[in-house]
Amino acid sequence: MSSTSTDTGAQGQPGGQAGPGPQGDVVLEVRDVKKYFPLTQGIFFQRTIGHVKAVDGVSFDLRKGETLGVVGESGCGKSTLGRLLMGLETPTEGSIKLLGREMAGLKQKEMRRMRRDIQIVLQDPYSSLDPRMTVGDIVGEPFVLHPDALEGRKRREVVQELLDVVGLNPDHINRYPHQFSGGQRQRIGIARALTLRPQVLVCDEPVSALDVSVQAQVVNLFERLQEEFGLTYVFIAHDLSVVRHISDRVMVMYLGKAVELGNEDQIYSGPTHPYTQALLSAVPVPDPRMKDRRDHIVLQGDVPSPANPPSGCRFRTRCWKAEDICAEEEPVLQIRDRSDHPSACHFATVRDVIHASDEGQGT
Ligand SMILES: Nc1ncnc2c1ncn2[C@@H]1O[C@H](COP(=O)(O)OP(=O)(O)OP(=O)(O)O)[C@@H](O)[C@H]1O
Ligand code: SF4
Ligand SMILES: [Mg+2]
Repeated sequence: MSSTSTDTGAQGQPGGQAGPGPQGDVVLEVRDVKKYFPLTQGIFFQRTIGHVKAVDGVSFDLRKGETLGVVGESGCGKSTLGRLLMGLETPTEGSIKLLGREMAGLKQKEMRRMRRDIQIVLQDPYSSLDPRMTVGDIVGEPFVLHPDALEGRKRREVVQELLDVVGLNPDHINRYPHQFSGGQRQRIGIARALTLRPQVLVCDEPVSALDVSVQAQVVNLFERLQEEFGLTYVFIAHDLSVVRHISDRVMVMYLGKAVELGNEDQIYSGPTHPYTQALLSAVPVPDPRMKDRRDHIVLQGDVPSPANPPSGCRFRTRCWKAEDICAEEEPVLQIRDRSDHPSACHFATVRDVIHASDEGQGT
């Protein structure tokens, strides 16, 4: 984890600053990115009857060595955003620049070259590893797809080095995925993501399928690798507690939109968006004495369909603070009078959900 990097950089759109001055080079520049999937009807004559607005205008900058945590409930567009960053989906609108180069419109060969710089670690280490391939073949597979990355005779040695780097025994290079535990399989997935020495890793819920005890070990591994290789992370999770310690900044998403963006202190001690406050009230608190000192916010109702989101603020159908303006005017993600970081709420106000500063806490 780097020191907190800061400005969102998108001209006014995501709301400027979230902490002290910017540091490092921008490696990923995302501007007003949208991904609408067509909804079709009919078997023979398929007609488009609408669109699923999976990602609907997301902007942020990511600096070298920084980790952006992306959090939100199921279906809010996290994986679609990750796939857009990888170039695996084409944006309906907006721009994504990796290392200063626009991804849209790249030819196949150029896109393949660019993929060397951005790799993905997926959630499920069981289904993402081919059970018929040895670990050596899995970790070395990117060299087959990118033969010019390294000459053939050096590949085995590099694969063994990678196994060592992620905490696996290099002598196990000829073993198969089923001979490893869940945590070890995720380490294999991480090694494969590192094979081409990328600059950015998109980690899509990389610890969600693991036991809690193993989760911490894998998160620690991500942190160590970041320091060793100067990696930049987009770290996706549905739980605010998972991304807390690894993230420099956290972006909270709701129905395809970023609703709040800030550093650890801003999001966990001073959240201003009611949705973030509700998510925070639901995170597991390890210290039992803290449980009584936090607000319990139970969200009413289900997440609306991304094919037909509510007018104005998308969160208004579940928000206890909603007023008439919330249905009429969409709140922009920006810094408002009563806060120090961007929030997409007309009435953004800091709420201390987990009262960490209460008297007696920690005694
Ligand atoms: N290829 C697709 N075609 C149509 N709709 C899609 C497609 N991919 C995703 N969606 C829809 O887009 C929305 C966002 O999906 P996405 O997988 O990005 O959410 P998510 O935040 O990653 O959810 P989860 O936490 O369950 O992984 C969902 O409503 C989903 O059904
Ligand atoms: S804009 Fe209104 S509905 Fe939306 S989060 Fe703020 S108070 Fe709630
Ligand atoms: Mg997902």
